[in-house]
Order: sequence, then structure tokens, then C-alpha cells
Amino acid sequence: MNTIEIEKRYSTLAETECCLSCGGAINLSEPKPGEVCIDLGCGKGSDLIRLREAVGETGRVFGVDVSDGMLAKAAKNIEKFGYTNVHLLRSELEHIQIESRTADLVISNCTINHATDKHRVWSEVKRVLKKGGRFVVSDIYSSAPVPEEYANDPAAVAECWAGSITKEEYLTILEETGFSNITIVEESKPYAKGKITVSSFTVSGQKASCNCGH
Ligand SMILES: C[S@@+](CC[C@H](N)C(=O)[O-])C[C@H]1O[C@@H](n2cnc3c(N)ncnc32)[C@H](O)[C@@H]1O
Repeated sequence: MNTIEIEKRYSTLAETECCLSCGGAINLSEPKPGEVCIDLGCGKGSDLIRLREAVGETGRVFGVDVSDGMLAKAAKNIEKFGYTNVHLLRSELEHIQIESRTADLVISNCTINHATDKHRVWSEVKRVLKKGGRFVVSDIYSSAPVPEEYANDPAAVAECWAGSITKEEYLTILEETGFSNITIVEESKPYAKGKITVSSFTVSGQKASCNCGH
């Protein structure tokens, strides 16, 4: 993946007030006291603070992002609360620097569309989840396959539209990764973004609690 364009775009956006979310993953994820939660593409860290409020002192929260600017902003925001169990990691989604079977819950908001190898990202989500763990992810999908001229343009991918895939492709990846209880919990009407039409949605699912099947 081209992290240079991501870094360029998001380190600038870290200093703005603009909202970068595309759905309500955090609102729909029901983190509980004592749980271990990971936010993939944590940005400025506002969802990390909400996760920490929910899991309390006995839980742990990890924020993963590839942008130094975003991580610096997140560190500043978290510092105001004095939390010691919120950890920031500079890591690509394709290679999450967290031990296997760590998390009860993985959330992500408007980030996975940027990843070049989405199969790999979802395998990583499954790897870091405990057996029976769940994910709640907000993202965008494209109404039609994105033309290669845009999909291969790192700047357009960093703009949060050209890396999107269709809903069918998205759900197929989740199924092929071996998640169960895959559910679309919210979904927008199509709207124009960049040079294409996309929809926002939030999808949830679970890693099997036994070694059966997958
Ligand atoms: C649209 S912003 C969303 C930030 C945050 N989740 C929110 O809702 O405000 C996408 C974030 O994902 C990060 N990101 C994009 N691609 C990434 C990748 N492949 N690995 C890790 N982080 C990535 C960016 O640096 C950015 O902070």
C-alpha cells in the first residue's frame, strides 16, 4: 500500500476539526467493562476515548493508525484524560502489531477502504480477535467496480473513495475469511464521492467460538 499519500493527507487533516467518520460503529458496538478493544484507523482518537470510558480501568484499548500526525493528535487527546490503558500503535492494517487472540471487539470507521489488500486486513482482524470476539466496522462501498485508473491512483485512494469495493465483494471477503453472523446494521443511500458513487454502511460479525469449520 502507498502510505505516503495516506500520511500526507491525514497528517494535514489531524489539525482540522473535520469529521472523518462514515457511520456509527462505536455507537453500535456495545463495549463492556473489562473488554479489550481495538480501533483500526483510530485517527484523532475520539473513539478510543469512548471505548476507554466503556471498558473502564480493567479493560484495554488499542488504537492503530499509519499516520504520524493522527497518532500525535490522538496521544494529545488521550493524555488530557490521563488514561494508562489506551495504547497507540503505528501499524498498517495489513500487519497489525498486536498478538493473536487479544481482542473482544474490533471497531473501525472509514478506514478499511484505503487498504490495498482487503483480504489480508480481514485475516488480521480475525487473527487479533479472541474466539467468539466481534467486529463492528463502518466503511464505504462503491455502487460499481471502481475503474482501474482511480483504484490504482494512491492520491484518490487516500481521499477515501477510490479504494472502495462493491458490497458484494465486501461481503464475500467477510464470508471467505470465515466470520459468522455477518449483519449489515446500517446503510445509507448511494451518494457521489470523488468520481464515483458510494454508500456508507456498518457491518458486524463474529469469529467462531470453537475451532469448528474455520
Ligand atoms: C477517514 S480517517 C478515519 C479516522 C477515524 N476512524 C474517524 O472516524 O475519525 C482514516 C484513518 O485511517 C488511517 N489509515 C488509512 N489507511 C490505513 C492503513 N492501511 N493502515 C493504518 N491506518 C490507515 C488514516 O491515517 C486515518 O487516520
